[in-house]
Amino acid sequence: MNIVGARPNMMKVAPLMAEMKRHAEIDPVLVHTGQHYDYAMSQVFFDQLKMPEPDYNLEVGSGTHHSQTAEIVRRFGELVAKDRPDMVLVAGDVNSTIACALVAAKENIPVAHVEAGLRSFDRSMPEEINRLLTDAITDLLFTTEESGNVNLANEGVPAEKIHFVGNLMIDSLVGALDLARRSALIQELAIKPRGFAILTLHRPSNVDDPDQLRRTLAAIAKIAERIPVLFPCHPRTAARIDQAGISGLNTWEHGPVSGSGLWKMPPASYLDFLGLVDRAACVLTDSGGIQEETTYLGIPCLTYRENTERPVTVALGTNKLVGSDPDRLLKEALLILDRETADENSAAVPPPLWDGKTAPRIVEVLKQCWRDRQSCCRQPVATV
Ligand code: UD1
Repeated sequence: MNIVGARPNMMKVAPLMAEMKRHAEIDPVLVHTGQHYDYAMSQVFFDQLKMPEPDYNLEVGSGTHHSQTAEIVRRFGELVAKDRPDMVLVAGDVNSTIACALVAAKENIPVAHVEAGLRSFDRSMPEEINRLLTDAITDLLFTTEESGNVNLANEGVPAEKIHFVGNLMIDSLVGALDLARRSALIQELAIKPRGFAILTLHRPSNVDDPDQLRRTLAAIAKIAERIPVLFPCHPRTAARIDQAGISGLNTWEHGPVSGSGLWKMPPASYLDFLGLVDRAACVLTDSGGIQEETTYLGIPCLTYRENTERPVTVALGTNKLVGSDPDRLLKEALLILDRETADENSAAVPPPLWDGKTAPRIVEVLKQCWRDRQSCCRQPVATV
């Protein structure tokens, strides 16, 4: 049973569903918790990633962290009681990840976690709590980078449970890049390669405090005097901008973008977003996954946070952590824009195993584990 809940889960689970379907001995079931439910945050990703419709949609919707997590536990618990899977596979660090892992672990059903071991070491982030708790009750831990292996070893996780398999998000990216480069949005915006920047913001630490949000957008407006900044806006951020009464952003709905300015847009689809990132001069973000996509594509990325759980993107990739000071963000962005920007993406070498072949590696591990009845699978399961 493969779980998706929020937007960043989709690109991790899609290649895995496709790979599992190629193996007769695996019968993958897809469960959507419904944590994200808008067309632009959910269905469009199913369509573009060619994911089958979910076998079950728990339709939990929005709520506080605790009510949302509790509701997923309740509804997923009912599903598991009815349709007992041999294994539950969760991805990433969202509320759906910990909620479904918790249900499975208590039911003595083996749990696999994709993107295990990442740590920001900042427990004020809800995602860090989700990561720590999920890994503590997971039987098969699939890691994307060496820091994950080290963190898990430091936490006492036995080596035989940890499998360094690479990055499923890059499987999706590799499969989608050609189409993304021809995306309809790029045509419509009629925007030159390296002639614009992209902004995404949604972390509570950046958007929940109206003052911080106002100062951040003011700094970005200065960057946008130099180059158009496209801002596909997460629903929670759009709501915070309205609540804070912040005005002065251009609202993009249709047509070409010319000249400078900060352009707030609806959330972009997967292909549109990837296509834009691929031709951006730089990306300013507080997201996790975008740090990885920019590293793979060789696009300069400024991460507007005090820490990253993905240090390989800084060590080997194009990512720079700039903290959450708007003045520093402005300074670093102008440095990038002052550099002569080549037409080609920089020849960044992708981190180890970010090669588009992670899904087959994961499936091989799952099959091996089943065959050997390894201790990582806690209970006997159907013979493969
Ligand atoms: C969640 C994840 C975060 C991930 C992000 C990507 C957790 C703790 N956080 O944060 O790690 O980076 O998704 O998008 O799980 N909303 C809508 N429509 C939707 C979904 C959400 O309008 O389809 C609005 C609602 O007002 C909701 C708010 O966005 O209250 C927050 O959504 P939620 O899923 O709770 O958390 P995210 O902030 O999206």
